[in-house]
Amino acid sequence: MSGAVDEQKRSAAFRAVDAYVEDGMILGLGTGSTAYWAIKRIGEYLSEGTLRDVRGIPTSESSAELARREGVPLTGLSEARPDLTIDGADEVGPGLDLIKGLGGALLREKIVAAAGEGLIVIADESKLVDVLGRGALPVEVEPFGWEATFAALKALGSRPELRMEGRKPFVTDGGHYTVDCRFPSIPDPDGLQNEIKRIPGALECGLFVGLSHAAVIAREEGAEIVEG
Ligand code: A5P
Repeated sequence: MSGAVDEQKRSAAFRAVDAYVEDGMILGLGTGSTAYWAIKRIGEYLSEGTLRDVRGIPTSESSAELARREGVPLTGLSEARPDLTIDGADEVGPGLDLIKGLGGALLREKIVAAAGEGLIVIADESKLVDVLGRGALPVEVEPFGWEATFAALKALGSRPELRMEGRKPFVTDGGHYTVDCRFPSIPDPDGLQNEIKRIPGALECGLFVGLSHAAVIAREEGAEIVEG
């Protein structure tokens, strides 16, 4: 990753924490290299006393580990709901609909975002698209009979690929596989999401439709807040 892009990720994350996080909040903690900076910032503010009584609900084991390291106390959906979730995205499209999941955590990310009051997306400007589907759409699938799920995803008009880690399928924190599906483009994210939901074995897809409250997009000139 270039230094300039990393700098933009950091600037989007910092701006989001500064603009939206308040004392006493329960925060959904996203996953990925942009969410990393948000968790760092929250930890820093807690340790210096700029923020108080904030607790996080992590969307992956790696974010949980980072939060612990940075001194962000954790809770779970059995005890609380997020006032706000701050998370990255792979594509930010019209209406702040998103593609997420290249980092492998989309199911937990979606559960946490949907359980809360609002999702703040943080991204560098390279993630902005006019139509979703520039890259692959990740779908988290049940390992049992994944070949049948794969065929059904192909029948929807995509070019699917089972995500691998070395010679073995990549396994999510929840013990599932991921199929990355390339569609020519996704002009109707809600329609496609509904079609994918009808496939037994497709547990969740990386389309986040109508979940984003706002996006903080970092450009060379600085980070801009786009309200949904
Ligand atoms: C994790 O599963 C993903 O949804 C990430 O939020 C997304 O891939 C963005 O990641 P980066 O911030 O690393 O680009």
